Amino acid sequence: MKKVRTAVLISGRGSNMQALVKAAMAPDYPASIALVVSNLPEAEGLAYAVDRGIPTRAISHVDYPSRAAFESELDLTLREHKIEIVALAGFMRILTATFISHWTGRILNIHPSLLPAYKGLHTHERAILEGAKKHGCTVHLVTAELDAGPIVLQAEVPVLPDDTSETLAARVLEKEHYIYPQALAVLASTINMS
Ligand code: GAR
Repeated sequence: MKKVRTAVLISGRGSNMQALVKAAMAPDYPASIALVVSNLPEAEGLAYAVDRGIPTRAISHVDYPSRAAFESELDLTLREHKIEIVALAGFMRILTATFISHWTGRILNIHPSLLPAYKGLHTHERAILEGAKKHGCTVHLVTAELDAGPIVLQAEVPVLPDDTSETLAARVLEKEHYIYPQALAVLASTINMS
């Protein structure tokens, strides 16, 4: 089976990237993690990938004069590694419509809310403040509009009366690690069939 070459883009801890790497070790998984990129050279997740022999690149956005220059280096790097799918996993840079248009239907993102609720940042705090009874996470295709692309998979958790943003985030994160590998498999299988 041909495995679809996937790059995971991170900015920090990289626990979702780790979940994707673990899933991709299964012989029948339709994608391989062929590259891990961080826009922050100090991102903790890079070491995990290095330890497993996965190619890594730190492309520090502050080293580039403009967003376009940063994205053009990112685009070139992805092409050099023959990447077919880009999986954003806690990647905290907004990508421009130009970059996204080069990868239409091939960029996934994981977002810590039940979209369309709570787009943007501080999703757990906002869910608690608003007294939400349900919360969760979403994997979606990335389009030019932030956190608004077609939904691939979602998972729900209850918001408990004594939840803090930390306890709620931890409950959601468990679900993130469960659905992201499934969502990547769905997209990779679709690409394999096309
Ligand atoms: C995850 O909870 C992910 O959903 C969130 O950042 C965290 C990264 O954790 N992403 C966003 O908020 C994107 N807007 P990780 O580095 O351990 O995967």
